[in-house]
Amino acid sequence: MKKAYSFKEYISIINSKLDSFIPGCSYGEPVVCDAMKYSLGIGGKRIRPVLLLEFCRVCGGDVEKALPFAAALEMIHTYSLIHDDLPCMDNDDMRRGMPSCHVKFGEEYALLAGDGLLTRAFGVIAESELANENPLCGIEAVRLLSELAGVNGMIGGQTVDLKNEGRKASLETLEIMDRLKTGALIVSAARLGCLAAAADEEKTAAAVTFCEKIGHAFQIVDDILDVVGDEKQLGKPIGSDGESEKSTYVSLLGLEKSREYAGRLTNEAVAALGIFGEDGAFLKELALMLIERKN
Ligand code: IPE
Ligand code: IPE
Ligand code: MG
Ligand code: MG
Ligand code: MG
Repeated sequence: MKKAYSFKEYISIINSKLDSFIPGCSYGEPVVCDAMKYSLGIGGKRIRPVLLLEFCRVCGGDVEKALPFAAALEMIHTYSLIHDDLPCMDNDDMRRGMPSCHVKFGEEYALLAGDGLLTRAFGVIAESELANENPLCGIEAVRLLSELAGVNGMIGGQTVDLKNEGRKASLETLEIMDRLKTGALIVSAARLGCLAAAADEEKTAAAVTFCEKIGHAFQIVDDILDVVGDEKQLGKPIGSDGESEKSTYVSLLGLEKSREYAGRLTNEAVAALGIFGEDGAFLKELALMLIERKN
């Protein structure tokens, strides 16, 4: 089995390279490149790239080579946050403990910075060593990410989210919404990490199940933190869901039942890790850390 990494080591590998994937500006108006770098650089938990790299590792792949896939996923996630914060969506002024992209650079450039990150993500995959050594792997990575971030993935979930403002969504609708808006990019981590390691179907299926469950729990905890979180620790405004009259697990089930549900999903996620044996320890710890998180 490949060398194990600590969470800190993963974060440092990811953060040291992220910026290098953003191109410089060649036409004398660097505002969009600056906005892209700003939103990518101001922090974030980097959960998706960490998961991707760890799945690659436990499936026997080369973590360094998977780094561009991890960066591409974080770029798509960051774009989704920039657009999510815009006044026409959730209208939130703080992100990752700093002014949101549109507050710092203006709405028009925040929109373009999101577009820029989205577009660049696919270039990063195409230029990667993995894709050049094995073009079919590169094509599959692009296909997967485009599907999971697209209209039947993250964008679809954001649509359901907006359509259900101001009304009481059913539990079924909430499940669909969270599976798409949040689950899909977390599942991308499993899929891309396994792809980078050429993992077999059984391991990929277990990784996907794990990420589906923690992805669901992740959004429930996010909804809980919007009510009981500490704005400073969280790095984004609390009470935003209430202000926009969002349909969330908390609004439908209340805090206690939401907490129980997130706990149950996390236990189910951990149960899916059996196939990785002792190598699943990091993923188990991460799942447990995510339901206790404060940011
Ligand atoms: C926030 O994601 C948006 C949701 C899907 C709930 P994260 O909580 O992973 O945000 P960062 O990357 O740490 O800022
Ligand atoms: C956002 O869900 C999901 C995506 C950005 C795709 P939220 O709107 O709840 O995320 P936060 O709370 O603003 O981070
Ligand atoms: Mg939102
Ligand atoms: Mg939001
Ligand atoms: Mg939220």
